[in-house]
Amino acid sequence: MENNIKLSEVVGSGRDGRILKEDILSFLAKQTGAILPPSPQLEITPPPPKAETPKPFQREQSASVPVPLAKPAVFTGKDVTEPLKGFHKAMVKTMSAALKIPHFGYCDEVDMTRLVQLRLELKPEAEARGVRLSFMPFFLKAASLGLLHYPALNASLDEDCKNITYKAAHNIGVAMDTQQGLIVPNVKNVQVRSIFEIAAELNRLQALGSTAQLGASDLTGGTFTLSNIGSIGGTYAKPVILPPEVAIGAIGKMQVLPRFDPDGQVVKAHILNISWSADHRIIDGATMSRFSNLWKSYLESPSSMLLDLK
Ligand code: COA
Repeated sequence: MENNIKLSEVVGSGRDGRILKEDILSFLAKQTGAILPPSPQLEITPPPPKAETPKPFQREQSASVPVPLAKPAVFTGKDVTEPLKGFHKAMVKTMSAALKIPHFGYCDEVDMTRLVQLRLELKPEAEARGVRLSFMPFFLKAASLGLLHYPALNASLDEDCKNITYKAAHNIGVAMDTQQGLIVPNVKNVQVRSIFEIAAELNRLQALGSTAQLGASDLTGGTFTLSNIGSIGGTYAKPVILPPEVAIGAIGKMQVLPRFDPDGQVVKAHILNISWSADHRIIDGATMSRFSNLWKSYLESPSSMLLDLK
């Protein structure tokens, strides 16, 4: 009925010529030229027992099983064309501009074992003060401490590529996956904020982002970006720079993996991968590598951050 199909025109493949869902879908596919998904997905499957909202990431899971989608996918059999709007339209513009930048990639792994322990200790304390403390505030603070040493990564190049401006403020953008699409609000002046203040600001941005209420001031003026794609999944990425910025980092999913300690013993470690992209016109590999080493060292020995906190 939904697709105005005359059942007399459909050949049934079921018992006694009964018309099955597959028959309807392949009939529609023939009409529209759509490619059908492989047949197992065509079976009418009962809905999953619990329609819980999936938790994006389960800590302590070394080989996490993909979370089942809450709703079964619906195959409409129709091509759909719609105009690009809002954030999607903005993404076309920004990413097309990013194509002009010669990107180079640099990846490493970070042993988060100590930071996992530290966050466990600090999380209830932050919650008591009304703030949710994830790993992001530590990633941002460590990046800002690193940018103080490597200001070329917190810079921008002018249109003619004649001047480079080293930005005083560390306005660190955080890629957010929202119902409206990808948005990148930034935490202003990370260089003068405590980890707790960064967490509170991220909470605010996330709350506004989830209800499409972020204002222009939150969405503009970024100088460097971090994208925590690991909160959804994946280990490595190839992030694309947001012009006029010159560097971006994509954080992968933290996994519990075996590693060797200094005595050669196999230990359980919380491993996270970082993938950086930088503008190779003005950033060289050595600078990126030194910055990444410093960022990594702050996260692997979080107490070392204390020495440099203002
Ligand atoms: N590894 C391990 N744990 C992670 C993790 C990672 N990479 N990322 C998030 N977590 C944990 C958090 O610590 C938190 O744990 P808890 O429940 O024990 O406190 C939990 O997963 C949920 O975190 P989340 O709500 O996602 O907060 P966050 O501060 O870690 O991340 C955003 C916030 C906005 C970055 C994230 O929600 C998001 O949107 N990520 C997608 C970004 C994206 O789409 N990038 C691609 C751009 S092209």
